[in-house]
Amino acid sequence: MGIKIIGTGSYTPEKVLTNSELEKMVETNDEWITSRTGIKERRIAEDDEATVGMGTKAAKKALDMAETSPEDIDLIIYATVTPDQPLPSNACLIQKNLNAKNAACFDFQAACSGFIYGLEIASSMMKFNTRYKNVLLLGGEKLSAITDWTDRGTCILFGDAAGAVVLTKTIENKDTLISSTMYADGTHFDLLEIQGGGSLHPITEDNINDHTHCIKMAGNKVFKLAVNAMVKSSKEAMEIAHVTPAEIKWLIPHQANMRIMTAVAERLGFAVEKVPVNLDKHGNTSAASIILSLDEYVRDGKISKGDKVLLTAFGGGMTWGACVLEW
Ligand code: UT7
Repeated sequence: MGIKIIGTGSYTPEKVLTNSELEKMVETNDEWITSRTGIKERRIAEDDEATVGMGTKAAKKALDMAETSPEDIDLIIYATVTPDQPLPSNACLIQKNLNAKNAACFDFQAACSGFIYGLEIASSMMKFNTRYKNVLLLGGEKLSAITDWTDRGTCILFGDAAGAVVLTKTIENKDTLISSTMYADGTHFDLLEIQGGGSLHPITEDNINDHTHCIKMAGNKVFKLAVNAMVKSSKEAMEIAHVTPAEIKWLIPHQANMRIMTAVAERLGFAVEKVPVNLDKHGNTSAASIILSLDEYVRDGKISKGDKVLLTAFGGGMTWGACVLEW
């Protein structure tokens, strides 16, 4: 038995927010945003659209590619820090929307590392339990809903999107996920956090006025940790998979900052041409960002059977990791 990814899908909202529009909202400019981050624009979901709606659209595309019926999905896992509501899980609402009535469902969050964590979680569960033959794994965020639109240090960074993949058990004794590393360091919890809205600081008028329900980030400190962690975990993932950078067709890092992506590529010995970029058009979409590129490259035929791909991410927690896929 092997576990293969047989379908990918993604969705981004129609509405575009450009750097020049942000210039009218906070004291910033296109030159600063472009040179410091690589972001030119990002997509913003409508008021009545959130991670379940976006995820449902991405999942339908992934299921179509996989030629798998929702009824044959045994497990739905959704990685997000912006679920539609605290209860029930996004995964249960996706199940309802798709009529995937035979699926067990849960959400988890590992922030921007959600897809890396999710692949290992899904694969481990499929190996452990014969019940899970087909799994739908989603990563999606409506970060615009938790962005402080008065904070120029963060509001220029984020965008909304969702992605999905379908994993299935095959008779071929080969897995798509050939190595995986997952790490975390909770001592740096306060470098990237949303303090309000949980059970310690429930929603009150005061903390809404203080924007405690919004993302806060010490960007510079996160930047330094991100590069080192992504490089180290990527090296480990390649070592476990017994592959060199030369054997890897694409390095798909989480898309948080072009300077981070370039530094990681350089330190790992990858030419920047081997790094797909969606950050310029979508900003940082957290758990969705890697799937957006994966889906685009699979659909364009840039990733095909036998190709090896290295994924790596870093995010709030702090969490990070890397994995090697063989398509
Ligand atoms: O996805 C999860 C992981 N997240 C990340 O990996 C993000 C990591 N961090 C970053 O991408 C970068 O640190 C940022 C893009 C967030 C910030 O870039 P930076 O080069 O680290 O800038 P900085 O925070 O050190 O700020 C430099 C200057 C400051 O002014 P002074 O103190 O030098 O006068 C800021 O106030 O730039 C100023 N600044 C801005 N100026 C214009 C900060 N934000 C802006 C802005 N427009 N939007």
